Amino acid sequence: MWDRHLIRYGSVFVPRLIAKARGALVWDTDGREILDFTSGQMCSTLGHNHPRIVAAIQQACEGAIHLFSGMMSPAVVTLSERLSAMLPPALSKAMFLNTGAEANEAALKMAKLHTGRYEVVGLTGAWHGMTSGAMAVNYCAGRKGYGPLTPGALSIPAPYSFHCPIRHCRDTCDFTCADVGFDLVDQQSTGALAAFIAEPIESSGGVVVPPPGYWQHVKALCDARGMLFIFDEAQTAFGRLGCDFAFQHFGVQPDILTLSKTLGGGLPLAATVVSDALEQDCHEKGFLHVTSHVSDPLPAHVALAVLDVLSEEDLNRRALEMGAHLRAGLDALADKYEIIGDIRGFGLLQGVELVRNRTSREPDAELGREITSRCMELGLSMNIVAVGKMAAVWRIAPPLTVTRAEIERGLAILDQAIGDVLARAPV
Ligand SMILES: Cc1ncc(COP(=O)(O)O)c(C=O)c1O
Repeated sequence: MWDRHLIRYGSVFVPRLIAKARGALVWDTDGREILDFTSGQMCSTLGHNHPRIVAAIQQACEGAIHLFSGMMSPAVVTLSERLSAMLPPALSKAMFLNTGAEANEAALKMAKLHTGRYEVVGLTGAWHGMTSGAMAVNYCAGRKGYGPLTPGALSIPAPYSFHCPIRHCRDTCDFTCADVGFDLVDQQSTGALAAFIAEPIESSGGVVVPPPGYWQHVKALCDARGMLFIFDEAQTAFGRLGCDFAFQHFGVQPDILTLSKTLGGGLPLAATVVSDALEQDCHEKGFLHVTSHVSDPLPAHVALAVLDVLSEEDLNRRALEMGAHLRAGLDALADKYEIIGDIRGFGLLQGVELVRNRTSREPDAELGREITSRCMELGLSMNIVAVGKMAAVWRIAPPLTVTRAEIERGLAILDQAIGDVLARAPV
């Protein structure tokens, strides 16, 4: 049905049409229930169609949905105040866009305008979005076939200690990857290093959790070069890790923070957040980033509801509690199945590394894909990321409102799916 008039854009289409979504569940057009352990596209942290989000949309419909980009609405102003109150004083000014890529694009443009330089360093395995500037610092996938990317994009190896990218450590990272990476950056740089951009936990790249002290080390390397440090918290902000922002967890404050997916709870909303001084300087230098839907009231209403629910339903605590339950279940599966080589993450962002055997750590993408499909047949939607030569990882991230019973049901399906696929795999 979808082959006829829809462009295939990279995701494998799920072989059924989804008609309804509530909480951690979706239903296909035949009424079949599927557990959603991907929170949609990692956005629906409150669960699908949370009543407060629905009410916020209705509220916007009674007020204003969309306005001229120079017109501010009470919802947008209040949202900027609410965000600023949650953030340190040096992250005081926000602009509201739609997608994560757009927010990163604005962040990179501001960093370039402010520093007067153009080079941007990212982490291998990173994903920052599909617009040209953001895509230039995507090292996860999609670089080939589109001609030259934005000049000045450089990378350093991610601290992926399960598969150390510089073949130096195993399981414990001593930051040599960052030092070697910046040595290479220095040699390649034309002397115009503007910024460093990274996800606090690299998600699409395999749920890569940096060791304690790593971000402090990298921030110092950036500071020494006069580079701005940008954290892209598309997936990690607003509860998923059990805190409002991942930078709080890691104890390193970025110069620029980008927010997206989880800010809109399923609606397209993103933010770029900077200091007063940075905003002032960029404004004086003529910063231009007007889009059709910049500062739209509708998604701002929704974001206010997201922030309300985050505190009213104590979702940070819930992510930790449900995350611990999920983790215990995954640990039990690891005791049973050799294919699970590693489990890592925080709260309700858990990565499960799939290997052929635990000594070689060779990835088992094929079996991983088969089990993922079997999960879908059995009623569990799972995402497999970082599928490639180096790794295959399940990214397990249910909504933060997921119930204990739903987690248990998901784990039981996963157990059955692994068992079924292994039973028919050639020995
Ligand atoms: C960390 C991160 N940054 C940015 C993006 C891009 O966001 P969007 O798809 O909304 O442009 C994504 C999307 O998956 C992401 O995971």
